[in-house]
Amino acid sequence: MLKAKIAVLVSGGGTNLQALIDAQNSGIIHSGEIALVISNNANAYALTRAENAGIEHLYISKKELKSQEAFEDALIAALEERGIDLIVLAGFMSILSERFTARYDHRIINVHPSLIPSFCGQGFYGLRVHEAALKKGVKVTGATVHFVNEIPDGGEIIAQKAVEILDGDTPEILQRRVMEQAEWIILPASVEKVCATLIRS
Ligand code: GAR
Repeated sequence: MLKAKIAVLVSGGGTNLQALIDAQNSGIIHSGEIALVISNNANAYALTRAENAGIEHLYISKKELKSQEAFEDALIAALEERGIDLIVLAGFMSILSERFTARYDHRIINVHPSLIPSFCGQGFYGLRVHEAALKKGVKVTGATVHFVNEIPDGGEIIAQKAVEILDGDTPEILQRRVMEQAEWIILPASVEKVCATLIRS
């Protein structure tokens, strides 16, 4: 394999997807290529980012498919059709079942906006993570990239980066700092690292 084929799963704004596209354009990611973007939200701006970058993109509706199983079957069909090697969850706000995660053992990675094992697991996503960190009063937070297994945010850690919490931070301000100083750096670096391993194996 010359390059690993990457699918990025998204739900929202897609700034992490953008960081991956930029990293591909600048050569930081060179052992893989983003072949597909899938959103579970029809209105995700991430889909526009994929469109602008000329990357194939799909919306798969859990509501229309009516069950988690049918939703995951549709995901699997889309991934298999294109021979995807690595699945990147970049702001994907839906928990995947063990049936799905076991099928792609060490082939799914996720970015989470805290230093796992703090502020993670079921119910901790997006701004809620930063609200919880501020409520607890921790002085340092950050981001984690990890492999995905059947335990939400419980898989093997690939990279972490710490970010300072400052006086006057709101969840929104903190979210932006964690993205800029951690997520947008460690996610592309981790994707490159995993793709490099995949193409050598
Ligand atoms: C990011 O902060 C990401 O780490 C987080 O949602 C945001 C998505 O932003 N993901 C989770 O909380 C997953 N548990 P984006 O759509 O702009 O990349």
